[in-house]
Parts: sequence; structure tokens; C-alpha cells
Amino acid sequence: MEFYESEFLIESEVPQNELIISRTDLKGIITYANETFCKISGYSVDELVGRSHNIVKHPDMPSSIFADLWETLKREKQWTGIVKNLRKDKGFYWVYAIVSGVYKNGELVEYKSLRTPIEYEDKLRYQKFYDKIRQENGEMIRKIIYEKEV
Ligand SMILES: Cc1cc2nc3c(=O)[nH]c(=O)nc-3n(C[C@H](O)[C@H](O)[C@H](O)COP(=O)(O)O)c2cc1C
Repeated sequence: MEFYESEFLIESEVPQNELIISRTDLKGIITYANETFCKISGYSVDELVGRSHNIVKHPDMPSSIFADLWETLKREKQWTGIVKNLRKDKGFYWVYAIVSGVYKNGELVEYKSLRTPIEYEDKLRYQKFYDKIRQENGEMIRKIIYEKEV
């Protein structure tokens, strides 16, 4: 997929009083998406279920963050982190994500994730932090300009 500079400009605000919920199989294929996830990502439930969760992966995210997520999940630990996600219309939304295993009779069967909004200052901080990681790792970066510096 090709991206242009004029895209990604529209941010969607994650609602304060709702949770973005999804579940995946052990390979990261979406098995469940709640209505808030559909609304915020701009996809219908049918477009999400059966697709890899990287459908909402934003090109500003360093790949090392997801490597850490998967390593953590493989160790059967809970992962938390700040994620910038890509909407279907190429807008974006920032979340605090908690990802962990779903167990049935003590056996790991799926992964689940809950996401909530983050503060404006954290968006600025993480945009810079992720830009830095991407730069250090030789990944492509885009220059993001915010009005307010922190
Ligand atoms: C339960 C669960 C939820 C996930 N949620 C997201 C998410 O919201 N955004 C995202 O980019 N990746 C999410 N991932 C990670 C993706 O599976 C994927 O590793 C990531 O998008 C990077 O894509 P890539 O591995 O194809 O490079 C999630 C994984 C799991 C298991």
C-alpha cells in the first residue's frame, strides 16, 4: 500500500466511556470486534473478523513495539502499551492497549485486547518517541508537526 503526505491528518477521538474490544486467534486473526472498535476504525464487523489485526497497523508504529507485544504474549504475560492505529479512511486514533490471553480449562485459546483513550500530551510524547525508535531502527519516518510542544 502506498501512503501520501496529505493523508493521515484526521484524528478520531476515542470515547472516554467506552472500551474498544477485540479478540484474535493465536495467530492474530480477528475473531471478535465490538461496536466501538468498528466505529473508531471505520470498518464493519464483517470487514474486521477473519482479517489480521494488522489491518489497523499505522505506518508510524515501530515494528519493535509489536515484536515486544508478541514476545510478551508468547511468554503468556499481559502486554500494555500505547498504540497509534490506522483507520480505514487512513485517519488515526491513539489508544492505551491491554492485550492478554484468553484461557479455557487452563489452556490458552485466544488473545483479547481492551483499549482506552490517552491524554493529548501522551500522544505528542509517543509520536516523538516512536519517530525516534523508527529512525534508530532505520525505518521510514514522517515529520509530524503539532501546534503545542512538550
Ligand atoms: C489481541 C491483539 C490485539 C492487537 N491489537 C492491535 C492493534 O490495535 N493495532 C495494531 O497495529 N496491532 C495490534 N495487534 C498486533 C498485530 O497482530 C500485528 O502484530 C501488528 O499490527 C504488526 O503487524 P505485522 O506483525 O504484520 O507487522 C494486536 C494483536 C493481538 C494479539
